[in-house]
Amino acid sequence: MFDLSEEGRSRRSGASFDQASRSSPCRVQETIMTVPLDVRSAGNGRFSDDERAAVYRVIFERRDVRRNFLRKPIADEVLARVLTAAHHAGSVGFMQPWDFVVIRQRATKQAVKRLFQKTNAQAAMHYDGTRAALYRSLKLEGIEEAPVNIGVTCSRQRGGPHVLGRSTVRDTDLYSTCCAIQNLWLAARAEGIGVGWVSILDHGALKKVLGIPRPVKVLAYLCLGYVSDFATQPDLEMAGWRARIPVEELIHYESWGMKIQGKRRNGDAHHEGLHENGRRGTNKVGRRTAGVEGQSSSRGLRHPR
Ligand SMILES: Cc1cc2nc3c(=O)[nH]c(=O)nc-3n(C[C@H](O)[C@H](O)[C@H](O)COP(=O)(O)O)c2cc1C
Repeated sequence: MFDLSEEGRSRRSGASFDQASRSSPCRVQETIMTVPLDVRSAGNGRFSDDERAAVYRVIFERRDVRRNFLRKPIADEVLARVLTAAHHAGSVGFMQPWDFVVIRQRATKQAVKRLFQKTNAQAAMHYDGTRAALYRSLKLEGIEEAPVNIGVTCSRQRGGPHVLGRSTVRDTDLYSTCCAIQNLWLAARAEGIGVGWVSILDHGALKKVLGIPRPVKVLAYLCLGYVSDFATQPDLEMAGWRARIPVEELIHYESWGMKIQGKRRNGDAHHEGLHENGRRGTNKVGRRTAGVEGQSSSRGLRHPR
């Protein structure tokens, strides 16, 4: 067993976790943070083929989830694992600027849902004609259906006035919090829990609903729950809103715009033909997804299954 408790981690790293002693309204922190998850490495620090495959699988099968939530509650220890994974993200100067507000009460969800409805109605006005009709048909949140909602915040002052590594790019604390959210998203997927990120919200109003103090920035509102199934493609792709950009279109060699590697090292020979061998992607019903918003469909990197 790998002891992920604050105490266990302190023992291994010799670090002090002042954060653990901070009082928090979060129910999960009241539970014993000993996570019975065997994630200890075999000793050589390497991943076995199966472990490596599992990492890619969770990345490719992560989805933003807004529907198909089950009523099944998320046990405190499972939520603790997911939040502990989030807390192990990289952060500028090891600032750990995040906090997590765990919401289970219906009244709070209803209040947030009202905020969404208001902001979403305004967002819909940005589109005309068929695009507006398509936008209105999209399901863009699962606030009330998801058993657990989580507000993720970034405390911009944590770590004092000078945070190592943040002097040139002030927003690196925000980037760090996004890294924590991605960890959460992936760990949840491995647990069979869907996560939907709702950004169509007035964050000022959201802070009032959640009682978040003034200097703390709200970064994300997430809806979590076990789901009946995970879609194989992003909902927006399936709805014809936008297609995945082929990854090779986004890779530049040595300088912006250089799409072909000029001088390959011997070991890079497998890049040969990268631009020729892409197959066009199809959606669930076998139709080509190319052409949406002028993009071609997914090529190149394939799901490793
Ligand atoms: C910062 C951020 C904000 C998002 N906000 C919303 C949102 O308000 N509503 C929504 O339905 N999806 C939202 N999403 C999810 C994206 O639509 C989704 O990630 C994208 O369509 C790709 O799908 P996938 O996550 O299933 O791969 C957001 C994602 C991110 C990273």
